[in-house]
Amino acid sequence: MKGLLYSKSAKDKLIYCDIKKPIPNDNELLIRINAVSVNALDYRLCKMGRAPKKKIFGADISGVVESVGMNVHTFQVGDEVIGDISDFGLGGFAEYTTAPEKAFVLKPANLSFEEASAMPIAGITALQALRDKGNIQRGQKILIVGSSGGVGTFAVQLAKYFGSIVTGVCSSKNVEQTKRLGADKVIDYSKEDFGMEIGAYDLILAINGNYPLSAYKRCLKQNGKCVFVGGALSQVFKTLFFGKLMFLGSKKMCNLFAKSNQKDLEYITKLAKDSKIRAVVEKVYSLENTAEAMRYAANGHASGKVVIKND
Ligand SMILES: NC(=O)c1ccc[n+]([C@@H]2O[C@H](COP(=O)([O-])OP(=O)(O)OC[C@H]3O[C@@H](n4cnc5c(N)ncnc54)[C@H](OP(=O)(O)O)[C@@H]3O)[C@@H](O)[C@H]2O)c1
Repeated sequence: MKGLLYSKSAKDKLIYCDIKKPIPNDNELLIRINAVSVNALDYRLCKMGRAPKKKIFGADISGVVESVGMNVHTFQVGDEVIGDISDFGLGGFAEYTTAPEKAFVLKPANLSFEEASAMPIAGITALQALRDKGNIQRGQKILIVGSSGGVGTFAVQLAKYFGSIVTGVCSSKNVEQTKRLGADKVIDYSKEDFGMEIGAYDLILAINGNYPLSAYKRCLKQNGKCVFVGGALSQVFKTLFFGKLMFLGSKKMCNLFAKSNQKDLEYITKLAKDSKIRAVVEKVYSLENTAEAMRYAANGHASGKVVIKND
């Protein structure tokens, strides 16, 4: 099969080449991959030279079950599935991969393979940030900093689905997109400083960018909470090392370390099936052009998700 093999010495550390097609063990599915989306974990690990177990990046896949191991009971050959294989050595930037059945759910027929592959990590991260860490409540005012990327586009829609009043933060080119996804208000960070919204929010999701922790704290109401999801590496380190100290008092903070699981994947997939949320796919690349897709996503300004499609 064709795939993108990690190689330290290659340009972009990736080689498009022939690789041995994997064979599923007794608990695994063999998937013919139709689409795979790019996530920060792919380009960050690749840049750091941390190769996955299978030496192939790519976590969020959608495709068709080609064969099943003898202990697999929930899927059959021909099923269309969605999965996050990041806990199983990655392997998505290829024509085929294997992973345990617990990584997958059935793909609803009304979602394209591209849309389906855009959902697992970004959708689950947004869900766990709002519901589990943020304890989101109907009627709350929520600020989503980084509302236009993979995680942000799901966060805006889920926050609206949960009945909150949403303000998104993004640059000019994405203002209309954030509004279309349902945001009640959008702050264009190239023109306005969200940090001036003093005491306005019950919950803040810090998804992207690099802002002073004091700006987030200033925007929270008393007893409000800021959930730090991601952003520039310096933003992440700042929150991990100084977050608790900075947020002493009634305003709270926490870091999210999202964990994929079948139940949450079922949850967001069902919402997409019922047209309550949708995946925003900005660009689609061929498998051969995966390195270019990784470069584009790593630039940090994708409007939604970047997807690789197998012919
Ligand atoms: N905690 C976890 O478990 C977890 C899980 C998944 C991802 N993450 C992290 O979450 C972050 C977001 O992931 P993602 O997949 O959504 O990334 P992404 O798709 O690459 O995000 C791109 C978006 O970020 C926006 N952005 C860039 N600079 C910004 C700024 N200064 N202020 C506001 N928005 C800005 C861009 O909007 P403009 O083009 O308009 O600037 C663009 O739409 C990453 O750092 C990732 O590592 C964390």
